[in-house]
Amino acid sequence: MLKRTCTCGELTKSDVGREVALNGWVDAYRDFGGLVFIDLRDRFGITQVVFEPSAGAELQARARDLRAEFVVGVRGTVAERLPGKHNPNLATGEIELRAAELVVFNESVTPPFEIQGPEPNEELRLTYRYLDLRRPSVQRVFLLRHRMLQSMRNSMSDMGFVEVETPMLGRSTPEGARDFLVPSRVHAGRFYALPQSPQLYKQILMVAGYDRYFQIARCFRDEDLRANRQPEFTQLDVEMSFVEDEDVIATMERLVVALAKEFTGEELNLPLPRYAYHDVVERYGSDRPDLRYDLELKDLADLAAASEFQVFRQAIETGKRVRGFRVPGAGAKLSRKDLDQLTEFAGSLGAKGLVWLRVEESTFAGPAAKFLPAPLQTQFRERFAAAQGDLLLIVADSQAVTNQVLSALRARVAADLKLYDPSKFHYSWIIRFPLLAWDAEEGRYAAEHHPFTMPLPEDLHLLDSDPAKVRAQAYDLVINGEEAGGGTIRCHDPVVQAKIFSLLGLTPEQAEEKFGFLLGALRHGAPPHGGIALGFDRWVMLYAGLENIRDCIAFPKTARGTDLMTGAPGTVDARQMRELKLRSLES
Ligand code: AMO
Ligand code: AMP
Repeated sequence: MLKRTCTCGELTKSDVGREVALNGWVDAYRDFGGLVFIDLRDRFGITQVVFEPSAGAELQARARDLRAEFVVGVRGTVAERLPGKHNPNLATGEIELRAAELVVFNESVTPPFEIQGPEPNEELRLTYRYLDLRRPSVQRVFLLRHRMLQSMRNSMSDMGFVEVETPMLGRSTPEGARDFLVPSRVHAGRFYALPQSPQLYKQILMVAGYDRYFQIARCFRDEDLRANRQPEFTQLDVEMSFVEDEDVIATMERLVVALAKEFTGEELNLPLPRYAYHDVVERYGSDRPDLRYDLELKDLADLAAASEFQVFRQAIETGKRVRGFRVPGAGAKLSRKDLDQLTEFAGSLGAKGLVWLRVEESTFAGPAAKFLPAPLQTQFRERFAAAQGDLLLIVADSQAVTNQVLSALRARVAADLKLYDPSKFHYSWIIRFPLLAWDAEEGRYAAEHHPFTMPLPEDLHLLDSDPAKVRAQAYDLVINGEEAGGGTIRCHDPVVQAKIFSLLGLTPEQAEEKFGFLLGALRHGAPPHGGIALGFDRWVMLYAGLENIRDCIAFPKTARGTDLMTGAPGTVDARQMRELKLRSLES
């Protein structure tokens, strides 16, 4: 084998005259009659190789037969390129390799897309993922992912955390998504569940005295996929003993500071800003607001109630809300067509309409302006601190719909009008989430995070009187409007835990049946403990500047949960089905 002595990314002028060997893929070939050039590519870079007539007709002829993506070895001498032929865009742009020997390790069939060409469509990319992963822009993401993973692991270890692996084949954990199930062959009719997270195991490790645990954990959730969701994803999973929420937050902040410095160059000021859940939902309509820009929501209930405008008045009379936000300077920037599109966008998210008002010198302009008499307009102006040239966007609907629509409008307007620098990051903690959410369909409460979360001490008394008002010792890390992580202090008090189970509609027997193993462990000397999990893929996605989480997962699933390269999920043969005592769909 013609083994390489160097990579395709490292030769420079200082190597001129050296005899070296390179291995790699043919990125491009050019035949100028007298001279044959190939660009040789590996994951380190590209080096130009030239086959000159002096190397012999036989070698030149073989070079002429090279095609895109052939894998070759070349031996030759490093030479400076001719004056005017230097390529400043290439690390190796000052030199070329004058070939003396060529070995073709393997030919390639014609690839369905050019590795360095325009971005192929997603279906091709995922079907030929091995070629897609060869693209330098994609390789950069996975090298970043690798470095982030190493850095995170080292930081955790340096902070005294112990990495423990927990099972993939376990029992269903109450994370709220649907489980992926694996049938047991030995125990017909029984199933393992792939972990939605290592939640219960890590709590048990605290009972077992491991004190500080972490794991780069693969998690599986059978849920509807989105741009930031995959059925199989990676968490930095963390649990700590003898801690309060402050301690978990402070520990994670040290990690955030280290990662931000290493991978974005930014020196973060600690502590990171913290916002209470109820405040951000009120001010931004979301529990993971993008705070790179302002666009804060204002409540207009009092003004709406006093107005003659049916849309507003009726909303308030039926217990709904009227809220909106001001976009500075956008009155002139957005055309009528832009505003119609925004209205349509709001409609697609469930709004029955969108009131937009251009703030002019002394009046408002817009289809709804005529419903707002001058004194009311003055009050609106004051409420929004609006000035001439601003735009007001207002929605009347339920709390849920106004949250949903206005938070999406904030994001869209901010992106359209470039109200932030896309290369910058904003980190914040959202704290004090509600412990429970009322599930009207099931007629009972559901855990907002998970059933083992500790309420805030000052809210404990509300568990009996007003459970929906109980706030939890819970915290989410939000980066640029993405939920990058979340965790809680766990409930290690059996009395409080029993109350929570009953609110979740679980009898003590049912709780025992579902999580008996955890409850058993908690009865054997459980230290106060809490933890968090960071969505590692999302973090890579943010730092790599990607729009879709698929682009930072080596072998991702499509939006419909399939793997276009392997064809998973696939069928299995009848014998496997029989062994598992599963009936095929036909029978
Ligand atoms: P949670 O369910 O909030 O918490 O998950 C933690 C973080 O994981 C990321 N994440 C995902 N990333 C990609 N695809 C998905 N389908 C997906 N689902 C979640 C998010 C999220 O913030 N056991 C608890 C943690 C704890 O309490 O310690 C848990 O899993 O970034
Ligand atoms: P209508 O009375 O239906 O013609 O609506 C008058 C204006 O109010 C239009 O610009 C609608 O887009 C807007 N509108 C209607 N319903 C709502 C709503 N629930 N929230 C905000 N604007 C609305």
